[in-house]
Amino acid sequence: MAVNGTDFVMTRATMADLDDMLAAEHEAYGGVDPWPRYIFEQELNRTRERLYVVLRHPETNSLVGFMGASFRPGIREVHLTNITITPHWQGREVGTFFMSYLMTLAKQSRFSRVSLEVAVANERAIRFYERFGFQIIRERRNYYGKQQHAYDMALILKNGK
Ligand SMILES: CC(C)(COP(=O)(O)OP(=O)(O)OC[C@H]1O[C@@H](n2cnc3c(N)ncnc32)[C@H](O)[C@@H]1OP(=O)(O)O)[C@@H](O)C(=O)NCCC(=O)NCCS
Repeated sequence: MAVNGTDFVMTRATMADLDDMLAAEHEAYGGVDPWPRYIFEQELNRTRERLYVVLRHPETNSLVGFMGASFRPGIREVHLTNITITPHWQGREVGTFFMSYLMTLAKQSRFSRVSLEVAVANERAIRFYERFGFQIIRERRNYYGKQQHAYDMALILKNGK
């Protein structure tokens, strides 16, 4: 799996990846843990409706990043639940690779929409999503805690786009 000239190994995430995923998130959010371990465990156990993938460096086996999505066939929507790139690998198109991969999967399965939530304060992530064409649908006040608002963002997938 070549991303920006580097070959990585991408696999479906399992419980064996959990410690590394938690560590990556802790680092990427500056010491804050948005998701406790039990949420990750629940997510990884829901193998039918969820897809979590991890990207590792082939030589060191260190975790480069991971992405998770929830598939909602009833409404033909894929919901991005998590995307985390370790700080060392940020800005090197790994996030772009994950998003492109998710959109390809969604289109192959004939889903029509990708949705996500993002903290209003996370300007870099909002810019990142907007580059793919995501639009802010609405604001959710205090979604992540007191005065920690979120945006719902969505992208409509067009045939062949
Ligand atoms: C947001 C996030 C997922 C983006 O992933 P990423 O791998 O850093 O994204 P990319 O490298 O594909 O693109 C991001 C930026 O790098 C820049 N970039 C990409 N490749 C580059 C390169 N070769 N040289 C210089 N800049 C580059 C892009 O222009 C973009 O700039 P901007 O964010 O300042 O507008 C990642 O930064 C992250 O994990 N952040 C912490 C967790 C988080 O906020 N997750 C989202 C929660 S909703």
